[in-house]
Amino acid sequence: MTTYRSRVAGTGSYLPPDLITNADLEKLVDTNDQWIRERTGIEHRHKAADNQATSDIAYEASILAIKDAGLQISDIDCILVATVSPDYLTPSTACVMQARLGLNGVPALDLNAACSGFIYGISVADAYIRMGMYKNILLVGAELLTRYVNYKDREVCILFGDGAGAVVIQRTDSNAEDVIYSSHLRAEGSLGELFIRKAGGTRLPITQKEIDEGTHWFTMKGRDIFKNAVRTMSATCTQALAANDLKMEQIDWLIPHQANWRIMEAVADHFKFPKEKVISVVHEMGNTSAATVPVAFDMARRDGRLRRGQTILLTAFGAGLTAGSAVLKF
Ligand code: UT7
Repeated sequence: MTTYRSRVAGTGSYLPPDLITNADLEKLVDTNDQWIRERTGIEHRHKAADNQATSDIAYEASILAIKDAGLQISDIDCILVATVSPDYLTPSTACVMQARLGLNGVPALDLNAACSGFIYGISVADAYIRMGMYKNILLVGAELLTRYVNYKDREVCILFGDGAGAVVIQRTDSNAEDVIYSSHLRAEGSLGELFIRKAGGTRLPITQKEIDEGTHWFTMKGRDIFKNAVRTMSATCTQALAANDLKMEQIDWLIPHQANWRIMEAVADHFKFPKEKVISVVHEMGNTSAATVPVAFDMARRDGRLRRGQTILLTAFGAGLTAGSAVLKF
């Protein structure tokens, strides 16, 4: 039987040009630039234009990733979009993208694993490719989180922004070196209340009461999530290293979910891993949920840090609660 492996063939990212600076937030809530920088590392976030939806920014990132992979749009044979902020509840954002890309007939589906969505997407794409189902999977993490943020809630509004990152996951030979080695996923559904957008689904439809009470916004228990994030990202990274008989010293770059620099720093400290080898772009985009890992990947490539042949450990945590890691040679 032929066995296949998968590789990251191309990357792309798109951050809308409008910015929300810490100074802008000072005018909305009781916060200040120094607190935000010291507690999170964030300097500004990007905000999509009023006429942009998630699929629009996903499209921009996707075109760049497909071009970077040296492919035509017509080479894509499966579309996966990781998002918690879809254009519509249905149809999926992946289907909206499929129509826009003109890929009629190509399978398209959304994945909701919140900020871990891109890592979950890697594991799905890798499994599809290993099974021989597809050759060039477009995997996008795209979010318009500013639409779900209450700009009266200082703990939440300082964190989130809009953005999209995309990769093409491509079939390659089983003996190729530049492959996705493995992915490890986990979830703790019993902790779902720590980050939740309560109203808007079948449990709690949006009514005037919900709007008045603000349950249609994201609500969060930040400190509990912080502790869980360090624990679960460290645990899944340990799994990823063990499964591939790798040591942290063999990792060229750690690309964690970009939620808060202090969380990334704590994971690096857990492994005594040099901070200079942690890719962080959180200062320039804040938390863009499923988009942070592919955007950070793409930005590090474009600024010359991340190069072909390097070994990269990706890790994320998010609402659900979910977490995961993937290790690959680029
Ligand atoms: O996918 C999940 C996404 N969520 C996350 O990733 C959140 C993870 N958690 C975090 O990033 C951090 O917990 C936060 C940035 C949210 C908060 O930082 P912290 O160091 O954990 O602060 P804290 O919650 O312990 O609060 C410290 C103080 C509190 O005041 P008191 O009780 O000490 O008087 C807060 O009320 O800071 C206060 N505070 C603020 N002050 C100024 C909370 N938010 C703000 C703010 N500006 N924006």
